[in-house]
Amino acid sequence: MSALATEYNAVNLGQGFPDYNMSEDLISFVHEAMKNGFNQYVPMQGHLPLREALSEKIKFLYKTAVNPDTQITITPGGTYAIYTALTTILQPGDEVIVFEPAYDSYIPTVEVNGAVPVLIDLEFPEYKIDWNKVRQKISPKTRMILLNSPHNPTGAVLSADDINELRSIVRDKNIFICSDEVYEHLIFDDVPHQSILRYPDLLEKSFVCFSFGKVFHCTGWKLGYCVSSPELTKEFRKVHQFNCFSCNSPMQVGLAKFLSNKDAYLPLSSFMQRKRDYFIKLMQATKFKLLNSHGSYFICGTYGNISDEADKDFCIRITKQYGVTTIPVSVFYRAGTDNKVVRFCFAKKEETLEAAVERLATIS
Ligand SMILES: Cc1ncc(COP(=O)(O)O)c(C=O)c1O
Repeated sequence: MSALATEYNAVNLGQGFPDYNMSEDLISFVHEAMKNGFNQYVPMQGHLPLREALSEKIKFLYKTAVNPDTQITITPGGTYAIYTALTTILQPGDEVIVFEPAYDSYIPTVEVNGAVPVLIDLEFPEYKIDWNKVRQKISPKTRMILLNSPHNPTGAVLSADDINELRSIVRDKNIFICSDEVYEHLIFDDVPHQSILRYPDLLEKSFVCFSFGKVFHCTGWKLGYCVSSPELTKEFRKVHQFNCFSCNSPMQVGLAKFLSNKDAYLPLSSFMQRKRDYFIKLMQATKFKLLNSHGSYFICGTYGNISDEADKDFCIRITKQYGVTTIPVSVFYRAGTDNKVVRFCFAKKEETLEAAVERLATIS
């Protein structure tokens, strides 16, 4: 869709990336690190001051003590952390519970490890997990449950009740959790982020994956981290060591300094919530019906009262005809489930959102 957006000079609310610049402070901390000679390999597990800063942040936000030496590994992005977590655990024939709509890397990562994705639809239109369905799908082969909160593409978030259900399902079973929390700081309306990091009993059997690129408006940096128990981290690093070994040094040095100030991350939710609210207000001028978004930088909308086209056809047509690009949500389902829903990314400048909505408002 991004290629089509470029071809038709469309306003791109499709792909998930901000069109405004990242923090000037963070840029200058990285620049300073490079000038100060931090341009060689850092240790395999990551630059220690960065892991220490993350451990502090985790303690402050989630009240959980995480050892920076044995429980945090810096990775080249969130996707890589998820890939490494799954590769650490999965054996051919294992089953992995994956909720759909799902971020596009999950199913291929399960399958490349010879494992079998067991797909469960989130309940449309709130995209909540039906835990009874999960219970029905658990088998002796279930080895992992893949979670994502805040969720791409829907903006759904997990609640404390969801965590209790999860706990009751994995208790006393050899089932691991991979929790994709790359939108950690982008959660709205003062709802607390139900990170697995809040729950030491669950962390014992989890890989919790994060992305600096996603939360600090620099998706092109492809830098993230994985938090787990000391035992699982040891295994995770065996895969990491011979795959990537060590990640970009100056960015880790810059991030360590940046994270020493809580202002680096505390205002992020309200910053993104303002964008969500502005977009919702603008969209009242259109015929789209927006669904609820509680986090991430995505919001979905139905177009059922505009057209009965398949969502892919609809997205292609509005890119070509109206000059606005969105993503058809059916692409996040293996079976192509089409609820006539498209995903908008609102991590954009106000003028970009205004230009897009001005065009969308002309669709009749
Ligand atoms: C749910 C989810 N997980 C992971 C990622 C990727 O994170 P990174 O760019 O750090 O690999 C994305 C990016 O779109 C995402 O939406």
